[in-house]
Amino acid sequence: MYSQGLIGADGTTHEDEEFLAAFQARIDAELKIEPNDPMPAGYRKTLVRQIAQHAHSEIVGMLPEGNWITRAPTLRRKAALLAKVQDEGGHGLYLYSAAETLGVSREELVGQLLSGKAKYSSIFNYPAITWADIGTIGWLVDGAAIMNQIPLCRCSFGPYARAMIRVCKEESFHQRQGYEIMLTLCKGSDEQKAMAQDALDRWWWPSLMMFGPHDADSTHSDQSMAWKIKRFTNDELRQKFIDATVPQAEFLGLTMPDPDLKWNEEKGGYDHGEIDWDEFWRVVKGDGICNRDRMKARRKAHDDNTWVREAALAYAEKTAARETAVAAE
Ligand SMILES: [Fe+2]
Ligand SMILES: [Fe+2]
Repeated sequence: MYSQGLIGADGTTHEDEEFLAAFQARIDAELKIEPNDPMPAGYRKTLVRQIAQHAHSEIVGMLPEGNWITRAPTLRRKAALLAKVQDEGGHGLYLYSAAETLGVSREELVGQLLSGKAKYSSIFNYPAITWADIGTIGWLVDGAAIMNQIPLCRCSFGPYARAMIRVCKEESFHQRQGYEIMLTLCKGSDEQKAMAQDALDRWWWPSLMMFGPHDADSTHSDQSMAWKIKRFTNDELRQKFIDATVPQAEFLGLTMPDPDLKWNEEKGGYDHGEIDWDEFWRVVKGDGICNRDRMKARRKAHDDNTWVREAALAYAEKTAARETAVAAE
């Protein structure tokens, strides 16, 4: 399906410099590209990969927190966490739908996730060990997701950009509920504060990795920027995240686990220590603490729910048959 060149609405592929220039001019004029518009095969392919990876991350991202719903400390916390985890499932659904407008089916995308062919964000391969991890995930992981996703509201591809507007509103609630858990713990007993610090120590570096490799090592960056799928580079977004998050940690009275972290007056941002890229690549390649568990849980959920898909199909067939029978009367 994704041969080189352009795929028009008629499904044919051709290479045409004039078209490519006109397409780029449309993007430069900040006009949205819609599903039925002709587009370069590479643009379509990049979007399918990125949107699918994003959808998979939302769905797999339900696992570390879903694990805490039955153990939330109060009814209020349980209700908020339940709502958040459901939101993430909803984000996955909007995103699979956005990807489907590009001519790829949800079954195919889910199949790629379950076979291990498609990636999802590595952050979800870390375990949520204590209740403070739930606070930290909301604060840092959803916080990093917001940094990444706000510019996507202006992505050149219409359905992705529009999906992101609602997603970002919900993410902001997720971030606040996480930060509020951290505030409560940090105002609590010494044990609670120590629990909050321990969670920050474990999640800080993996959240910085969420922005992906340094710009110099990022394979898809330049073209995505030109197509206005991406608006900021990985390093720019990481810097924004650090600058926004350090004062929040100070307000909590927590210490960032990075001795090299310091304010750089000249650049007007924080300098930070080097990220452990070996760890990043190890987790991306499937060898993180929870990679196997996460995939096992996803496959089990898919298998356990076969009857739901079958029942929905049978119902749709029955309804269609009934409608045909009524129409024939
Ligand atoms: Fe989300
Ligand atoms: Fe979220």
